[in-house]
Amino acid sequence: MKITVIGAGYVGLVTGACLAELGHQVLCVDNNPEKIALLNAAGVPIYEPGLQELLSRNRAEGRIHFTTEMADAVDHGEVIFIAVGTPSQEDGSADLQHVLAVAGQVGRHLKNFKVVVNKSTVPVGTAYRVHDAIVTELRKRGIHEDLFEVISNPEFLKEGAAIDDFMRPDRIVIGLDKGPNHDTVQQKMDQLYASFNRHHARTLWMDVRSAELTKYAANAMLATRISFMNEIANLADLMGADVDCVRRGIGADARIGHGFLYAGTGYGGSCFPKDTRALVQTALDCGSTMKVVSAVEHVNDSQKTVLLHRTLQYFGNDLSGLNFAVWGLAFKPNTDDMREAPSRVVIKNLLLRGAQVHAFDPVASKEALEALTHDMAEHPQALQRLNIHATAYEATQQADALLVLTEWKTFHHPDFQLLKSQMKRPLILDGRNLYDPQWLQDMGIAYQGIGRRNDLALTLKRPVEAASSEPLMALS
Ligand SMILES: NC(=O)c1ccc[n+]([C@@H]2O[C@H](COP(=O)([O-])OP(=O)(O)OC[C@H]3O[C@@H](n4cnc5c(N)ncnc54)[C@H](O)[C@@H]3O)[C@@H](O)[C@H]2O)c1
Repeated sequence: MKITVIGAGYVGLVTGACLAELGHQVLCVDNNPEKIALLNAAGVPIYEPGLQELLSRNRAEGRIHFTTEMADAVDHGEVIFIAVGTPSQEDGSADLQHVLAVAGQVGRHLKNFKVVVNKSTVPVGTAYRVHDAIVTELRKRGIHEDLFEVISNPEFLKEGAAIDDFMRPDRIVIGLDKGPNHDTVQQKMDQLYASFNRHHARTLWMDVRSAELTKYAANAMLATRISFMNEIANLADLMGADVDCVRRGIGADARIGHGFLYAGTGYGGSCFPKDTRALVQTALDCGSTMKVVSAVEHVNDSQKTVLLHRTLQYFGNDLSGLNFAVWGLAFKPNTDDMREAPSRVVIKNLLLRGAQVHAFDPVASKEALEALTHDMAEHPQALQRLNIHATAYEATQQADALLVLTEWKTFHHPDFQLLKSQMKRPLILDGRNLYDPQWLQDMGIAYQGIGRRNDLALTLKRPVEAASSEPLMALS
């Protein structure tokens, strides 16, 4: 089939590359000319495991092409995916300007029947708004025919494992309302996704509104599990319990399951934060409230500062002259995505309190520097104290503490003896619970995880008084 994908970002590129791999003829369009030039020069603008190889193969076999020309793109596909960004607005609601701009462009160029698929995460009712935006443009051209259908096909891929998720979906949710085009569209989408339904039917057909809400409900549920475990971890810290034991204990219950129960420094990324905010705002717009999801957001905001509070409890409010090594900058492993990464909150606050920060990330150095330069725009002097290193052990030289913020595999088994010999103080504040507290303690490395029972955790129980008489400064 001929497929068009509008938006060559994390979702659009993976969708395009995977559909090309299945044999479809794909044209990806983006309004960022540099991105398209890079893709046409065999480059890849984002880091996603396996994507480079998939794109190279399908480029070479002529199944995927890239353009900035919307007229060509609309002409090309029988099915047109919209995969542009839907960032948060001031009030938390989803900003639909890119989706609606694209819809208008589709309407301006549409000549024959197309299935327009909303793959972007959009609030309930957006498919109807996309429909109206297309109709408005068609009417300007004197076209009153029923030339298209807008359906919802939310994407559930995870960055870092996006290709596997796309190629082996748990389910494919498609929202399609009853109407004259219903059967034609259903047939086309069945044909498009036939490979995924060979073993057993994975496509879940439903009405458009339910499909749109399903995406938000899924992300809100996953975010809820994370915030719930973070609260249990913080309580475990106060009580001398180990959240990792609790995680196994509850995960073994088949009704609960093991997934998404890891305590840490809070979730980030391009989806959970903005989608939970948008869901809360959608409810408010309907005169309702989402009490659980609002609480999930608040817990997450404060969880991003947990390691910072521990740092200040240990060292006091003034961090001048101290060196902090930070391992892991991207919001999670196997991606270069810095959107709402907890590392941004931690590093900004360390710099603002006078610390030298020595950071390392296996792939996100460039993106991290851009993000932190943006965050520190009003504090250029403090930004000078940020050093991003090429290796993990370069960052830990003479460090007063090591903060681990992303669970990249390469951090799972560091050379602890080397760390101990390099660091000024052997202290690890582990935001991802990668290490065994007892093991490190036996090795003479002070260790603080999230919700893990260990000596440092217990001595930090009421550490403000212990380490410093000053109240903790507000964290931003
Ligand atoms: N990133 C994820 O893990 C993920 C997972 C599931 C769903 N989603 C949803 O998918 C959507 C896209 O997310 P993303 O992370 O891929 O975003 P992204 O910012 O990485 O990519 C969006 C792309 O759209 C392009 N674009 C914007 N306006 C355009 C226009 N008018 N014409 C052509 N191109 C345009 C941008 O240049 C950019 O390349 C969002 O709604 C997001 O919530 C994302």
